[in-house]
Amino acid sequence: MEDKFKVTLAGGETSSVIFKKSIDDLCSYLKAYGENVFYVFDENSARILPSIPEKSVILESGEINKNMESLERIIGSALSFGSARDTRFVGFGGGVICDMTALAASLYMRGAKLTLVPTTLLSMVDASVGGKTAIDYSGGKNLIGTFYPAEDVIITTECLSSLSDREYRCGLGEVIKHSFLTEDDALFLFLRDNRESILSRCDEVLDEMVYSSLMVKCSLIEQDPLEKRGIRSFLNLGHTFGHALESMKGYSISHGEAVAWGVARALEASYEENGLDESVLKRGLTLLTDYGYDIGYRIASSSWESYYRAIGKDKKKSGGKVKFVLLSAPGRPYLAPLDEHTVRSLVVQKY
Ligand SMILES: NC(=O)c1ccc[n+]([C@@H]2O[C@H](COP(=O)([O-])OP(=O)(O)OC[C@H]3O[C@@H](n4cnc5c(N)ncnc54)[C@H](O)[C@@H]3O)[C@@H](O)[C@H]2O)c1
Repeated sequence: MEDKFKVTLAGGETSSVIFKKSIDDLCSYLKAYGENVFYVFDENSARILPSIPEKSVILESGEINKNMESLERIIGSALSFGSARDTRFVGFGGGVICDMTALAASLYMRGAKLTLVPTTLLSMVDASVGGKTAIDYSGGKNLIGTFYPAEDVIITTECLSSLSDREYRCGLGEVIKHSFLTEDDALFLFLRDNRESILSRCDEVLDEMVYSSLMVKCSLIEQDPLEKRGIRSFLNLGHTFGHALESMKGYSISHGEAVAWGVARALEASYEENGLDESVLKRGLTLLTDYGYDIGYRIASSSWESYYRAIGKDKKKSGGKVKFVLLSAPGRPYLAPLDEHTVRSLVVQKY
């Protein structure tokens, strides 16, 4: 793997993705930006650096704080430090901090410089690259946002050592999902053959896993940087099934568990609807099971209506119909509606 690569996004803007071996190396890199830098942390990511830079704001953690108030705090703090348009905003944290800092940077004086330092696995393989920025609003997720790619995305997998298992597995669900979105089976085989090292977060495997996973995401977003051609939506493989489960369960299960469960249902639907090869289905389900995801879970028939209502709220609708991401083969995704009977047969307990 290379320790640096570029992603080309909307309007030819590029992001440099840079891998740093250690938190010390990361600090040296950040120091080289000079003094005109403003940092955004949350209370957990703020513990990663040996000391907190003077010009910074520390927000409370969690999706519940991905809101207008936090956005105002970021912008207000930047102003209080005398930041100008040439100030570099550094979003240092998980996907919530990356999304909010990027939104703030895109708005601040019509666009400040932006670096993202993702510190969760999910933000390394997903949220920090691709230019989407957002806050939640009025109960709706990511309702306010812009496209504003970071100039630099700096990845240091050493940051993952303090991450909870729940959050780590959240990111792993997305990595496994990426392995089905490429015709090249290298990522799939890497995940299959290095399971123990990956689960125990060994240094030797993390950089390569994050790099290979990002390659899949980048290949899709570069073809559709503004999400106008339908290609970028393939990254939602498993999400329609998974989000509905999360919503039905009142968000008591983690996003990663729900995505992994949803990917299993999407593979099964692909097998039944469009002849996804049985061997691909089996090896996919085996990988998800080997990583400890409870893909055998099915909802009780009494919960079906609330589950199906949640499916109906999915954003990926066209002509009033929810479109699911399905696969005709690994790396060959497409969007298609599924009828109610098919969805029910995939998600409800048989007896
Ligand atoms: N922009 C995009 O393209 C994109 C893509 C996917 C997801 N997202 C967004 O990302 C968000 C989810 O990201 P997330 O899963 O990283 O959530 P998060 O930012 O809430 O982080 C999860 C938890 O981990 C903590 N944390 C962060 N780094 C840590 C570390 N190194 N050690 C210990 N704890 C740490 C955080 O404080 C938080 O409590 C959602 O808001 C989602 O909408 C955006």
